[in-house]
Amino acid sequence: MACFFRRSVAAQLSRICGAPEDVLVPLLSAVPVSKKQSTPDLRLAVNSLVKNGVLSPDADLQTQTERLTKQLRVDAVVEEVISGRGVINFRINKRLLVEKVLEQLRAEPQSFGVQSELLRRLRRGRTLVEFSSPNIAKKFHAGHLRSTIIGNFIANLKEVLGNEVIRVNYLGDWGMQFGLLGAGFQRLGSQEKLRENALQHLFEVYVQVNREAEHDESVRLAAAEFFRRLEQHDEQTLSLWKQFRDITVEEYKKIYERLGVRFDHYSGESFHQSRAQEVLKELRTRRLLKTTEKGKGVVDLSAASDLSSYATLVRSDGTSLYITRDVAAALDRKERFHFDEMIYVTDKSQSVHFQQLFQILRVMGHHWAERCVHVPFGLVLGMSSRLGEVVLLEDVLNEARYRMQHNMQEAKTSKELTDPELTAEQIGVSALIIQDFKGKLISDYKFDWQKVLQAQGDTGVFLQYTHARLRSLLRMHGSGNHTHFNPSHLQDSRSISILQHLLRYDEVLLQSALDLQPRHLVNFLITLSHLAASAHRELPVKGSPAELAQARLRLFSATCSVLANGMKILGITPVDKM
Ligand code: ARG
Repeated sequence: MACFFRRSVAAQLSRICGAPEDVLVPLLSAVPVSKKQSTPDLRLAVNSLVKNGVLSPDADLQTQTERLTKQLRVDAVVEEVISGRGVINFRINKRLLVEKVLEQLRAEPQSFGVQSELLRRLRRGRTLVEFSSPNIAKKFHAGHLRSTIIGNFIANLKEVLGNEVIRVNYLGDWGMQFGLLGAGFQRLGSQEKLRENALQHLFEVYVQVNREAEHDESVRLAAAEFFRRLEQHDEQTLSLWKQFRDITVEEYKKIYERLGVRFDHYSGESFHQSRAQEVLKELRTRRLLKTTEKGKGVVDLSAASDLSSYATLVRSDGTSLYITRDVAAALDRKERFHFDEMIYVTDKSQSVHFQQLFQILRVMGHHWAERCVHVPFGLVLGMSSRLGEVVLLEDVLNEARYRMQHNMQEAKTSKELTDPELTAEQIGVSALIIQDFKGKLISDYKFDWQKVLQAQGDTGVFLQYTHARLRSLLRMHGSGNHTHFNPSHLQDSRSISILQHLLRYDEVLLQSALDLQPRHLVNFLITLSHLAASAHRELPVKGSPAELAQARLRLFSATCSVLANGMKILGITPVDKM
């Protein structure tokens, strides 16, 4: 909807400076609402006209700004044109602002923002997002939690913006660790415990056998033997491995469901062993694989072909490595899914790995590697629970639920909930997500339960609280969407601020889509919640004359829709009561 206004200003500008409207529309941005003064609605940075070749770079910017301002006229849409330092501000007709935005949100709340013409410049197609990707029997650390929620956000965002999305979980389900786990399980494992709590039990066996292997040669030999038999696909060995894998996937599915996350494919390193051998063969025939003095097989990645930078793809004993399997997996996926872009989400310690992976694909002549992206993120420090260090994803979720439920009982808010546990969990999860998404993904952050779960302040709890309050208001009085509507009832500064803020939604989505960072959307929703909270306080529905009350309800209903839409993109389930 913001584009109706952008377009109208762009049409005028186009007549003055000759550039096509389509070039001008994206240069007009909605102005962030400021508490101190009354905010203009749209803004044009005049140097963006210079950058786009519309104005000459030689003339003085301020002179050009003022000249342009003088040439612009007020009309039915634009009420005032004001020049500033290098910018031109536009005030648009507020009746029109109220009418246009609220009408679109009444008619098509789902498409608001996401179908803006501003987003048309984004490429659309099939996007494969690989995320979460934990390792069987190993700890599910905070990094995997981050990968899970970030990947889910990226997949959701891509989806609402009109891409076809394929969600892949690439399990760490192969490698020497299975030798240890298998050998360990034969001695220490119990089928009964496996049925009771599979992830916990596998983890315990794995920790124990690792400890023993440190000082016991025979354990190491048994592990190597188990892995050798596994690589040779010995039936019994393979069936035990398969049991570990199946059980793990089943358990993870339950936990992902609690997080509101799903995958289209559970793949993993084990899927690509034979393909990895084919890759090596191809590299050899094409003389892209060089053997070093120590017998390793490497691919030269240096510009000068002097091996100053390279990636190792085969050990001297002939076995493949993590990166070899990744090359194979990428080729497999390209053939199977014909993706247009592929996005990997892992912590930043794997950045070099992915840069090398993409380079290898390019060396092999696969141009689509240009559309492979790694989204790296930083560390979470100090995530623990009442029981100590967090080792499984379940521990984090249980802790969030427990603490949130406790807080809700203290605040005595949870009286009429049908399933207080579920609500507590949904709010707890949103709190984790918002805390995680607030900053740049690449930054490390310190985890603090107390801060995460605060009801006031910029938290997921606050977003949920705002949403639930709006929902309750609408439940009680209706949405105002089906009655006569008079926009002159929403000319107060609080209502206008909300509408001005809503004008920014498409720009915020565009920003997030371009850099795949959720913080733009998070900040937008937090500000929206603050504006909504103050409007809720100051613009009563109950006791107001009918027409005024209906207009306000329509505003609250619109606000609530955008809040819910944005939360869902972030991977949050908005709650109706709390
Ligand atoms: N399982 C790996 C780990 O936990 C992450 C896998 C990332 N994806 C990939 N294609 N290598 O570190």
